Amino acid sequence: MNKELLKPKITAIVAESNKKPADKMQFLCNLIQENLPTYNWVGFYMAHESEPTLHLWCQAGEPTDHIVIPFGKGICGQVAVSNKNFVVDDVKAQDNYIACSIHVKSEIVVPLFKNGKNIGQIDIDSNTVKAFDESDERFLEWVNEQVATIL
Ligand code: SME
Repeated sequence: MNKELLKPKITAIVAESNKKPADKMQFLCNLIQENLPTYNWVGFYMAHESEPTLHLWCQAGEPTDHIVIPFGKGICGQVAVSNKNFVVDDVKAQDNYIACSIHVKSEIVVPLFKNGKNIGQIDIDSNTVKAFDESDERFLEWVNEQVATIL
């Protein structure tokens, strides 16, 4: 399935009235990970209310040990500080990188803004080198805008 076809399904999950936000986010992780072949791991890390740390709320794909990530550490931690998308074509070329699986070759992290504040991020890992381009950035920005409406 392509990203455009996923959008109405994402909108429908976000609009459901009988689920909590974190449950909807888990459904979104599953939906995206199952339908986009190069999206091998999909998760949302959300910022702690007062500490400079990111916390894994939900994920689809191989379990990870990295449940809490300090701001500044790894690709995720850098995005928490920079407020900017981070597209990594080849994770081996990164020195500030946290490896979650030996299979991962590329990664994209897109911040999630609520009322202009960076409150978390969507993180995608791929087992394919250079799996992500601008269409993925636009798609994941759109996903995060939908999620922001329920947070
Ligand atoms: N690779 C990330 C850590 C999270 S895992 O991809 C699930 C990073 O460098 O921040």
